[in-house]
Amino acid sequence: MNKDKKEIFDENGKSRGFYSEKNQINELTGKEWQYWSKSVITKQYPFNFQHKLRNEHGGQKPPELCADLIKVFTKEKMNILDPFAGVGGTLFGASLCNRKAKGIEINSKWTKIYDKVCKLEKIKKQKMIIGDSKKILKNEKKNCFDMILTDVPYWDMDKAEKSKNKFKKVGEISKDNKRSKLSEFNNFNNKEQSKQEWLDEMKEIFTLCYPVLKKGRYLVVFIGDMYRNGRYHFLSNDLARVLEDVGFVPKANIIWYDVSNRLHIYAYCYQYVPSMIHQNILVFRKE
Ligand SMILES: C[S@@+](CC[C@H](N)C(=O)[O-])C[C@H]1O[C@@H](n2cnc3c(N)ncnc32)[C@H](O)[C@@H]1O
Repeated sequence: MNKDKKEIFDENGKSRGFYSEKNQINELTGKEWQYWSKSVITKQYPFNFQHKLRNEHGGQKPPELCADLIKVFTKEKMNILDPFAGVGGTLFGASLCNRKAKGIEINSKWTKIYDKVCKLEKIKKQKMIIGDSKKILKNEKKNCFDMILTDVPYWDMDKAEKSKNKFKKVGEISKDNKRSKLSEFNNFNNKEQSKQEWLDEMKEIFTLCYPVLKKGRYLVVFIGDMYRNGRYHFLSNDLARVLEDVGFVPKANIIWYDVSNRLHIYAYCYQYVPSMIHQNILVFRKE
């Protein structure tokens, strides 16, 4: 056995495997590293941390999923940035694993919910800034974050339609069709964005993210593909190209299969339309 490796035990005295002092990325043992290098996440995450309250947002991520990702790409006490913080999935994830985090969120409705959940759960607040990342990031110090974990605002979410278990033809709007909850977080400025405008905005913000991330560290981005107006949109692919243009090097596309997503019936008998129950987690590195 190498001298630089030591066996690590969890709080119940169970072996976590062997940890190498040479590990510069995280605090995982070899066994845990192997587990987390898999390209599909199927783990079921609980509806906790005042889920009902956070669910007012509609695009919130499970804090424990964020913590799992943070533990793969950082060590304790490291510094994480989320330029699209919402109701604080990344920030709660960082709190769960003893990391520091800074969130930027344009809509104070969501930051108020973050504050409320912290109070109810007795969690020390991470730094949450209310404002536009396009402005705030310009004043951040260079090379000061060890990881960027974020979840981008979706393009075109206003058009989301669900058939609510009623069969309908392609293009036919179901009677109880509701505006998607997700649309709200894009709706602070009430303007409709084309896909190119959305990509341009993402490019502007991730260009500002590049200098604040330390060299050799990771950018991890949640992005769902979508089916709209009779066609599939490879948004993850579109965004990946933008991130590569900015200078980040692509490393992985992890699929998060969200077991809590319900299946809906779309266009039964007429056409194949996918029921989207996964999200992509794009992994990039600043080299
Ligand atoms: C997909 S949500 C993030 C949800 C988050 N992961 C959570 O767990 O709550 C994206 C968020 O980005 C915010 N946003 C959109 N444009 C922004 C901008 N230019 N600057 C800062 N926040 C922005 C939206 O208001 C929205 O809450």
